[in-house]
Amino acid sequence: MSKRDKRGNPVSYGVQEAIDALDSACDLLHAYQADPLAAADTIIAQHPDFALAHAFRAGAIATATDKAFDAELLRSLDAAEHLASQANDRERQHIHAIRAWFDGDWERAIETWGCVSIEYPRDLLALQFAHLGDFYLGYSHMLRDRVARVMPHWDSQVPGVGFVKGMYAFGLEESGDYRQAEEQGREAVALNPQDGWAVHAVTHVMEMQGRAEEGARYLSSSASAWAPNSMFAFHLWWHQALFLLEANDVAGALRLFDEDISAGGFAQALELLDSSALLWRLSLLGHDVGDRWRGLAEKWEPRCEDGLYAFNDVNAMMAFVGAANSRAQVQQLDTLRRAAAGIGTNAMMSREIGVPACEGLVAFGRGDYAQAIACLMPLRAKANRFGGSHAQRDVFSWTLIEAALRLGNRALAEALVAERLALKPQSPLNRAWKLRAASDCS
Ligand SMILES: [Fe+2]
Repeated sequence: MSKRDKRGNPVSYGVQEAIDALDSACDLLHAYQADPLAAADTIIAQHPDFALAHAFRAGAIATATDKAFDAELLRSLDAAEHLASQANDRERQHIHAIRAWFDGDWERAIETWGCVSIEYPRDLLALQFAHLGDFYLGYSHMLRDRVARVMPHWDSQVPGVGFVKGMYAFGLEESGDYRQAEEQGREAVALNPQDGWAVHAVTHVMEMQGRAEEGARYLSSSASAWAPNSMFAFHLWWHQALFLLEANDVAGALRLFDEDISAGGFAQALELLDSSALLWRLSLLGHDVGDRWRGLAEKWEPRCEDGLYAFNDVNAMMAFVGAANSRAQVQQLDTLRRAAAGIGTNAMMSREIGVPACEGLVAFGRGDYAQAIACLMPLRAKANRFGGSHAQRDVFSWTLIEAALRLGNRALAEALVAERLALKPQSPLNRAWKLRAASDCS
C-alpha cells in the first residue's frame, strides 16, 4: 500500500519519515517562512531518490521567477525527471508542470498544476504553484476560482486549511470582492499568524480601499508574528512603505527600504522588483533617493541579459532609468525585443506589455512625457497580461499622472486622478494630485 502525506495524498517514496519531513518543508513554503529550500536540501541529502522532494525544490525555485537560479532549478528538475519512472501519476504531473515552466510555457505549467489540484484537491503544493502561476499571468479570477474549486474538500480538520483560506482571500481581493477577502484573510491569520500570504491578502484589501493608516497599523502590530523568519517580509514592508507614502512619510519609506526591503541584499529578483517599484514612486513624487538607484541597477544588470519574465524586466528598467544608465536601458530593451520575437508565455508578455512599457519608462526618463504617455496609456487596459497585482500595476497610473502633470496636460491628469478618487476619495496622494492638476496645468 502506498504511503500518504499528512493530507492523504499518495506518495510513491517508501520512507514515511522523509514524507513527513517534506510535509514540514512544504508548510514553510505555504507560510512563506524560513528557508524551504534548505529544508528540501536536508531531505534530499538523506533521501536522494525521493522524486517529490526534488520536484518540490524545483517548483519552489521556478516560481521565484529569477533567471539567476536557473542552474539550480535545472539541477532539481533533472533529478526529478530521472526518478519519474518510480513516481506516481500525481508526482509525474508535478514534474511535467515544472518542465513546461522551465521551457517557457507557463500557461501549460499552470494548467497542469491546476489539473493536479482538481484530481487531488488536498494537494496544497499543486494549488500553491498554480496560484502563484495565476498571479504571474495576471489571471485575477483564477486566483479566486482555482482555490474555490478545492474548498469543499477542506474543513477545519484538514491540516493547513488556513493556507487555502489565505490564497482564496488574495484571489477574492484581486477579483474586487474586498469584504469576503478580508473575512477569509483574517480567518487565515487567526489560524496561523505567521501565514505571510494571508497577512498579504488583508493588506491588499486595505491598499485597494485606501485604508492606509489602518494598513500601516495592521502590519506594524502583526509583524512580530510573521516578520522574524519570513522570506516574504520584504514585500509586506513594501506595502507598508506604500501606506507611509500616503501620509507623505518619505523618511519612513526610505527607512523601510534601507532596513527591511533591501535587508536581504537583493538576493532574489522579487526583492529587486519591490525595491524598484518603491524608488520609482518616490522619484515620481520628486523625492531624492540618493545613491540607491545605482546600487539597485547594478544588481539588476546581470539579470537582464536573457528575458525570463517581462514584469521583472520592466521593474529592472525603472532602476536603469532611475540610475540614468543608458547602456543598461539599451541592453534591457534589446533583451525584451528578442524575447518578444520568440515563443512562449514571456514572448507574449514582452510583446504586449514589456516592450511598450519600457519604451515609455525610457521616454519618461529623458523628459519626453508625450512619448511616455503614448507608450503607457494603451497598456492600462491590458497590463494584467504580464501579471502582478493591481497594486503593483498601479505604477503605470502613477507614471502617467506625473507625465501628464509635467507636460501640462490638465485634461489627462484630471481624468486619471478622477479614476483614483472614485476608488479612494480620502487618499491624500490623490487629493494632492488633483490640486497639482489645477495649479500646475492652468
Ligand atoms: Fe502585494
